[in-house]
Amino acid sequence: MSTTPIQHATVPIDLGERSYDILIGAGLLDDPTSFDGLPDAACAAIVSNPMVAPLYAARLRGALANRYARVLSIELPDGEAHKDWASLNTIFDALLAAGCDRRTLLFALGGGVIGDVAGFAAACYMRGVPFVQVPTTLLAQVDSSVGGKTAINHPLGKNMIGAFYQPLRVVADLSTLDTLPPRELSAGLAEVIKYGPIADEAFLDWFDSNLDALLARDKAALAHAVRRSCELKAWVVAQDERESGLRAILNFGHTFGHAIESGLGYGEWLHGEAVGCGMVMAADLSARLGMVEAARVDRLTRLVERAGLPIHGPRLGVERYLELMRLDKKSQAGEIRFVLLDGPGRAVVRGAPDAHVARVIEARTA
Ligand code: NAD
Ligand code: GLY
Repeated sequence: MSTTPIQHATVPIDLGERSYDILIGAGLLDDPTSFDGLPDAACAAIVSNPMVAPLYAARLRGALANRYARVLSIELPDGEAHKDWASLNTIFDALLAAGCDRRTLLFALGGGVIGDVAGFAAACYMRGVPFVQVPTTLLAQVDSSVGGKTAINHPLGKNMIGAFYQPLRVVADLSTLDTLPPRELSAGLAEVIKYGPIADEAFLDWFDSNLDALLARDKAALAHAVRRSCELKAWVVAQDERESGLRAILNFGHTFGHAIESGLGYGEWLHGEAVGCGMVMAADLSARLGMVEAARVDRLTRLVERAGLPIHGPRLGVERYLELMRLDKKSQAGEIRFVLLDGPGRAVVRGAPDAHVARVIEARTA
């Protein structure tokens, strides 16, 4: 598969009356037409944080100026540790204090943390107000802004309190990736890698050939990575919006990854770092169960490492990993279920004997 040098692309996500478009391109944030067709409202609110707002809120505000008479700014503290009730309440307090009614539009301007919290606030405020995702990290552009999962964390488990609530639109401006710290770019690449082994082997080959360009932030390569990731995610979500089956494959690497995140304390490892390492562990488990050849695990491990991501998990101990993974949302009647590779571009969700899982943890933590 070659890199198509696109300027702008639109990826539709087909969910009946909840269908929407994902707009992808450089400069969309400054372009008022990116927001054409959104509902009228007396008030809109931009939810962001002290890192992203100084970089991009004025540009978004400018693009919205002729559309909404009043645009509030709501800032949440930055970071995964603030994906919590307090941030949610900050949004509700600001909306209520400003007298915002149920037609108010929320714009989530930031990475996955802002998107998940603002989206959940939109799902709850006055029993639901419309919202738009304006993702500014690679991770958010290729994954979290798409598909309507919104949530906050609980001290006992990641993303445990939330709702399925679709945005009206996703506006992914590739130019915002220019300011992303290198560690965050790598974290986003983890979620790009993910789509290949589970759904599109050719995309994994493309990623392998274009990883250097992605790390150098080549716009055409980034555009292709975002577009293809969104197409694959839209394809999965359109078939299984509420994760009664197929959608769970998007959690490849997340069972081990979420255990790493909550086991270390939110924010210690980036979400994408935990997912990158978690994919290596899940691929290893697949090989130990005879589902894929060891060569596939080695290839994935090399790609994760080349993307700048850790390939060994922290030494939390086998029992602690198992305890944390039992809390995973895919668990059924106490059985941990993993997304495992089942051939090129194919994944299944199933349990695995604790002894095999223990061997993976012993081999893949340091
Ligand atoms: P993040 O939102 O914490 O953003 C990473 C950091 O980059 C933050 O410090 C942020 O302020 C900063 N930042 C954002 N945009 C920037 C820019 N353009 N320039 C400079 N700095 C910028 O982390 P993330 O990796 O974007 O998202 C991770 C979160 O997404 C996790 O909470 C994860 O659970 C969630 N997630 C949700 C879904 C979903 O389907 N809803 C899917 C995947 C991940
Ligand atoms: N990121 C996993 C999902 O959206 O289902």
